[in-house]
Amino acid sequence: MEGKRSNLLLQVSLLLILSFINIFSNATKLETYIVTLDSPDGINFATSDDRQSWYESFLTATSTDSNVKPSILHAYHNVFTGFAADLSAEQVKAMENMEGFVSARPERVYELHTTHTPNFLGLYQNLGVWKGSNYGIGTIIGLLDTGITIGHPSFDDEGVPTPPKKWKGKCEVAGCNNKLIGARDFTRGSTRSPLDSGGHGTHTAGTAGGNFVHGASLFGNAKGTAAGMAPHAHVAMYKVCADVGCSDSAILAAMDAAIEDGVDVLSLSLGGASLPFYEDGIAVGAFSAIQRGIFVSCSAGNSGPYNSTLSNEAPWILTVGASTVDRDIRATVYLGNKVLIDGESVYQPKDFTQDFLPLVYPGSNDQRASWCAKGSLDHFDVKGKIVLCDMGGAISRIGKGQTVKDAGGAGMIITNSEIEGDGTFADANVLPASHISYKDGVSIKKYISSNTKPVATILFRGTTIGVKTAPEVTYFSSRGPSRASPGIVKPDIIGPGVNILAAWPVSVDNITTKATFNMISGTSMSCPHLAGISALLKSEHPDWSPAAIKSAIMTTADTVNLGGQPIEDEREVPTYIYATGSGHVNPLKASDPGLIFDIKPDDYIPYLCGLGYTSKQVGVIVQKKVRCLETIEESQLNYPSIVATLKAGEQKSYPRTVTNVGVAMSNYTIKAWSAPPGVIIQVGPQVLEFTKLGQTVSYEVVLTRDATTKVTNQYAEGVVTWGNGKYTVRTPYSVKYV
Ligand SMILES: *[C@@H]1O[C@H](CO)[C@@H](O)[C@H](O)[C@H]1NC(C)=O
Ligand SMILES: *[C@@H]1O[C@H](CO)[C@@H](O)[C@H](O)[C@H]1NC(C)=O
Ligand SMILES: *[C@@H]1O[C@H](CO)[C@@H](O)[C@H](O)[C@H]1NC(C)=O
Repeated sequence: MEGKRSNLLLQVSLLLILSFINIFSNATKLETYIVTLDSPDGINFATSDDRQSWYESFLTATSTDSNVKPSILHAYHNVFTGFAADLSAEQVKAMENMEGFVSARPERVYELHTTHTPNFLGLYQNLGVWKGSNYGIGTIIGLLDTGITIGHPSFDDEGVPTPPKKWKGKCEVAGCNNKLIGARDFTRGSTRSPLDSGGHGTHTAGTAGGNFVHGASLFGNAKGTAAGMAPHAHVAMYKVCADVGCSDSAILAAMDAAIEDGVDVLSLSLGGASLPFYEDGIAVGAFSAIQRGIFVSCSAGNSGPYNSTLSNEAPWILTVGASTVDRDIRATVYLGNKVLIDGESVYQPKDFTQDFLPLVYPGSNDQRASWCAKGSLDHFDVKGKIVLCDMGGAISRIGKGQTVKDAGGAGMIITNSEIEGDGTFADANVLPASHISYKDGVSIKKYISSNTKPVATILFRGTTIGVKTAPEVTYFSSRGPSRASPGIVKPDIIGPGVNILAAWPVSVDNITTKATFNMISGTSMSCPHLAGISALLKSEHPDWSPAAIKSAIMTTADTVNLGGQPIEDEREVPTYIYATGSGHVNPLKASDPGLIFDIKPDDYIPYLCGLGYTSKQVGVIVQKKVRCLETIEESQLNYPSIVATLKAGEQKSYPRTVTNVGVAMSNYTIKAWSAPPGVIIQVGPQVLEFTKLGQTVSYEVVLTRDATTKVTNQYAEGVVTWGNGKYTVRTPYSVKYV
């Protein structure tokens, strides 16, 4: 009794102490702030030390007797004027009245754009290595990611020359070579090192710029040559993501360094929710990059199929959505009624019984069991049976398999929910399994409920190439319209993002060679495909601006699948411009586009002012003093696609200017155009005449919405396609009826 009482007292006093600590720590709570400054007129910092001490003066102003002067976490020089530091709200307040202070905001943490696909493996990669290209020689791809695996054969430097003279980057770890020319860490923590802490960075770097690795194979399954998009480009890794995510201050520091180091292309497979561009670290950093001719490729995000879920929407960034590839790693479900249903699994056991086994769905009246959540099958008899599990419940697919295996199940079928449609993943499952579509799941459930003794087995049929419906837009790829700038079509492009095989730090299938690979999915995987392809274009056309490269990729994109049909959505619903952007990347065509829509960095100023930003906010992005005197509507920017916002009876004109990069003497005419219901399209002039390379010609697209036609949808789309026999230049547009 006595003991219990003192125990209670102790607990009460502990509680008091804890709440005291709480109050105390609230008062001095430190957060990492990104502080933006505006250098006073007339001050030119001769050296970066001068600049640093000016930054320091802001921190000096925050220190009082009771608090130590904070230190600068990152001082920025290229991406914008300012620094990151751990500050309290009071300290920020103390800076606010100092001359040159613009803003301070707590940093954001971004997430990596892989799906919740656990590790799977296999072999995939024949894309992007096409005849006549020079494999990206001489270009430098910088990636902001989780780090890199030194010594992986994908980063061997065979065939890769020494880096160009402009390269000023460094390697913070031994083992770099002519392929992997930079490896730096910008994360915080005790065990800092640019080595890959997760696998994501090794995978994206391998996808963008991995060298040829011959004879790669998995479970002896598929054998072939693995290679990145630009196998002979140089790669530099800037580690910005640790366990907690990818912090804004580190991303900005890495972009700052990459610009200084001399990269040609930046690849960022990470992002956060939409923000005005002056508050969006990636948008701000990317603007400084394009001002120096550096191309920036970013993932669109994995928050589809919902609309307006994009990350990285600035028009100076290439925003990349994800598509399926033409390869299945088949695991076919064979039902007792002799029906065959194709699904996927990369774990393909050779010795699985081909006799029928009992088939059960434990989820009819039990939500957790329907997801095969951990422990949920304990009160079901699944021993020796094949168990049907639903996607969802925040449980990874591999995890569902583990539950079934632990409960003594012999095999597993995972079925999609409606929203995931046909999208299946080839996983490294822990037991014989197959991942099937929503529709097929519905029919298996029907089979189970209408039979007293339902049975099934799984047939492992290996790799199938040439799936005619590929590429399809994945369900998870984030959709537009952009929230930050609805007047620009986003995403820009889609590229391979499902079951992508690339370098991985460790073996996931117990092989003993150093050539370890993994298969993962997400817009994280499509982004480095486009970064690598951009490196190839840059290598072939060193004088092209980032906007020109973007234009080349967009105007030549494919709009039909391998079967010659319009590209579809894997949810079996029609796709639209805010899912596909201009279409699916076609690297070969992009390398020779005929015409390009160019945009100079300063052209974005009236566009940004037109977004309603203040001169100061625009100044934060473009890194110079701006006065917003001239504004344009977003759709007036010389973008390779158009968003037309039209009221009933309204007529609007969209000017565009194209530059000839094809054949000197050439005339382009309109090869195809279309207009949605209630809209009349006119284009003038109807012939674009060129007599030399580099020549520019302007035209106008005039769209008129008639006053009477009733429309049921809010959005519709059309296209204007120019051609001259050799080249096809396609510019899609969206119409928003208001
Ligand atoms: C997304 O936009 C498309 C095209 O405008 C539309 O058909 C679809 O219904 C929208 N989806 C949602 C969930 O609002
Ligand atoms: C890899 O080896 C471990 C240890 O021998 C074993 O438990 C595991 O099942 C193996 N994994 C595969 C995919 O073969
Ligand atoms: C382009 O059109 C002009 C005017 O009709 C004509 O003089 C010229 O020869 C044409 N050029 C080519 C390459 O066809």
